[in-house]
Amino acid sequence: MDEIIIKEIQEKYDTPAYVFDINVLRDRIGYLKEKLTDRIELCYAIKANAFVVKEIEDIIDRFEVCSPGEYRICEEKKIDPKKILISGVYKTPKVIKEMINTTKEMNCYTIESMEQFELLKDIKSDIIIPVMIRITSGSQFGVNEEEAIQIIANRNEYKNLYIKGIQYFSGTQKNSIKRPSKEIEYLDDFIKRMKQEYDFEVDELEYGGGFPIHYFVDSNFDEEAFLNDFVDLINNMEYKGRIILELGRSIVASCGYYLTRVVDKKKNKGQNYAIVDGGMNHIVYYGQSMAMKIPICEIYPKKDNYDESWNLCGSLCTTNDILVKQFPAGDLQIGDILIFKNTGAYCMTEGISLFLSRDLPYIFKVYDNHRLELVRENVPTYRVNM
Ligand SMILES: Cc1ncc(COP(=O)(O)O)c(C=O)c1O
Repeated sequence: MDEIIIKEIQEKYDTPAYVFDINVLRDRIGYLKEKLTDRIELCYAIKANAFVVKEIEDIIDRFEVCSPGEYRICEEKKIDPKKILISGVYKTPKVIKEMINTTKEMNCYTIESMEQFELLKDIKSDIIIPVMIRITSGSQFGVNEEEAIQIIANRNEYKNLYIKGIQYFSGTQKNSIKRPSKEIEYLDDFIKRMKQEYDFEVDELEYGGGFPIHYFVDSNFDEEAFLNDFVDLINNMEYKGRIILELGRSIVASCGYYLTRVVDKKKNKGQNYAIVDGGMNHIVYYGQSMAMKIPICEIYPKKDNYDESWNLCGSLCTTNDILVKQFPAGDLQIGDILIFKNTGAYCMTEGISLFLSRDLPYIFKVYDNHRLELVRENVPTYRVNM
C-alpha cells in the first residue's frame, strides 16, 4: 500500500481503519474473468463486503443479496435490479412483496425452503417471478433433491413462477479442486436427469464456488492451476446452459487493508507484547486458530531488521485478543502502524465489534492508487450497549 495513503490516514484521521483499494479490486475481477473465460459469468456475494458494490457494478454480472439490509444497500446505491439475485434463508411475506413491487425490472429469487416456496408461489404479482431452486449440500440451506424434483415436476401449476434453474453453494475456502469436481459432476448429472425424466431445461446454474484466499505466509495455494482446473470441469459438463459462479472472498479479500497502530508495549515474563488500537473485534482471518498462523502483514515505517518477535494483542479485555503470536517485527515502536493484508472480505462485519464498546474503525476507499476517500467515520458503539 502506498505510504502516502498511510501518512494521510495517520495525519488527518486515525486508526484503526479499513482501506479498500478500488483499482486492486477491479484488476482482481479482470484477472478472474480472464481466467474463467467467457463461459463463466461472475456473481458477487455482497455479504463479503457491501461497501464496494457500486464500484464494480459495470464489471460484475450479478449480485447475490441475502437479507433486507443487503437489499437496502443495493437500493440506496442504485444497483440495477436486473442484476440482483435475492437469496438467503429468511424473508417475511411483507419483505418479499416489497422487493417484488419495488423492482418491476425483475430480478431473481432463490427457493431456500418449501416454506419460502409456498410464499413465493402465492404472491400476487403482475409479473412472472424468476426463481432458482437452491439444492442443499447437507446443511440448513436449500431444499432436498426430492423437494426440488417435486417443484420441477409440478412446475406448470405455478403460473406466477418461472423456474430458471439451480443454485448450489456448499461452503467457503475450498482449497482443493476435489470438492468442486464432485459437486459439478453431481449437478451435471442432476440437470441431465431433469431433462430426461421431466423434460425440464435448466436455463441457469449458479454455483457458489467458495474459492480460497491465500491468507498466511506459509500457504502454498496455486490459484492459477485451481482456476484452470475449474474451467476444465465446466467445459467438460454435458450441460451447456448459462453458468454463473458465485464468489465473495475470492473477489474482494485482496483489495482490503486493515491498519492498526501500536499503542503500548511491554515484556511480560520474557515475552514481547505490543498492544494495538484495534483487535480481534475488527479482523477475522478464516483458518486462523489461536493466532498461531502469521497473516500477511507489513509494518510502517519499515524496519532495518525483523529479528525480534512480538505478540500482537488488541485492545479488548480478553486473553483471546491476540492477532498474531511471535510476529517478526524487529524494533517495534509505539506509533508504528501494522498493515494487515487481504482483509477486504468479511473482516469488517464478522468481528465481535460491539464487545467492550470500542468504536467501529474508519473505512476508506482508494481510487487511482492515491486518492483517499473517507467512507465512514469511526463509529462509537457505546450507545447501543446501554
Ligand atoms: C449462498 C452463498 N453464496 C456465496 C457465498 C460466498 O462465499 P465465499 O465468500 O466463500 O466466496 C456465501 C458465503 O457464505 C453463501 O452463503
